[in-house]
Amino acid sequence: VNLDTLLNLDDIEEVATKQISQKGWAYYYSASDDLFSKTFNNKVYRQILLRARVFVDCVNCDTSTSFLGHKVKVPIYVSPAAMARLAHPDGEWGIAQACEQYGAMQVISQNASMTPEQIVADANPDQVFGWQLYVQNERAKSEAMLVRINNLPQIKFICLTLDAPVPGKREHDERSKNVGANLPVRAAVQEDASVSKTSSDAKTPSPAKAMGVGQSLFWGTAADLTWKKTLPWLAQHTKLPIVLKGIQTHEDAYLASLHAPQVKAIILSNHGGRALDTASPAVHTLLEIRKYCPEVFDRIEVWIDGGIKRGTDVVKALCLGARGVGIGRPALFGLGAGGKEGVARVLEILKAETETCMRLLGVGRVDELGMHHINARAVERD
Ligand code: FNR
Repeated sequence: VNLDTLLNLDDIEEVATKQISQKGWAYYYSASDDLFSKTFNNKVYRQILLRARVFVDCVNCDTSTSFLGHKVKVPIYVSPAAMARLAHPDGEWGIAQACEQYGAMQVISQNASMTPEQIVADANPDQVFGWQLYVQNERAKSEAMLVRINNLPQIKFICLTLDAPVPGKREHDERSKNVGANLPVRAAVQEDASVSKTSSDAKTPSPAKAMGVGQSLFWGTAADLTWKKTLPWLAQHTKLPIVLKGIQTHEDAYLASLHAPQVKAIILSNHGGRALDTASPAVHTLLEIRKYCPEVFDRIEVWIDGGIKRGTDVVKALCLGARGVGIGRPALFGLGAGGKEGVARVLEILKAETETCMRLLGVGRVDELGMHHINARAVERD
């Protein structure tokens, strides 16, 4: 395919769908139960309308910003998503190459199909990475991983995912469990020698029967994390700042902000609709925080993901107070459509759409965006 003929993220998904194996596609596309949250994550942005100011010089437009003090060229980052090599052999390394080209941040999944060392190997010195942790029942496994991550200077923070202590019921993924051969790629850290494979952990016996990709990746993930126990444990094993991913209420956003400065950011997310179906889209959580505890924005950064498909979606999230937005499936589908160039095309499209939106709004810099640029009445609640 000539990537230049793909004009938007739906075009890219369509091509990727034809090129990725059925099993890989089912894993990426899937979400829990009825896919309500997955679909609504995107639809909610259509309910927010833009308020453009005119008669403003919009020749210059600068999309650059920073995450946790690290400069990036776009307020868009690649969310942690497992198993990128199901889409293309370039895998997570290919995503890193595309992020370098567009000055975008990348959060590496704990279940990446390549090791963190391989993924950051060819990064340029200014490139910003985070590493996402699913704490394992066998804490020693997670501790061994943290030692490795602490030794990689490219990785600037630990992203602790909280919204999926157990996997959601993903029926597309489950239906494809017997399709084709076994999984062609595995999560690289599960293969790694520093992480023991011969676990005798009673809580995590080996899976006895075939299961979807999602369920098999979740095997061994701890469901007993708490504010009180887990943050002090993490502080013992890393000095890196913590980003809490999967915050879905203003109550938890506020609690997270009380843990600054160890916690430096939260990601409002419902896991792309893959955990709790009918969970609120992150935009609703953002509005709740604005209403009930706006001081959160002064204490920690607030990032958001789920359903981003257009530059206008990016801009609306920033207007509502998000520091930046994450993309999960779009990056994987970009890989599927054209390897690292496909991911670069995704970033190119989103950046160009974001710039066009900012110019048409009469805005030259991302820090000028605010509530005065949107009409969010349809999503604001009492
Ligand atoms: C994910 N996501 C995810 N999150 C995480 O913290 N660790 C992970 O390993 C994964 N793996 C994963 C795999 C796949 C195939 C998808 C689609 C998603 C969730 C991800 O980080 C993000 O929250 C959502 O993907 C955002 O929604 P969109 O952009 O896919 O709509």
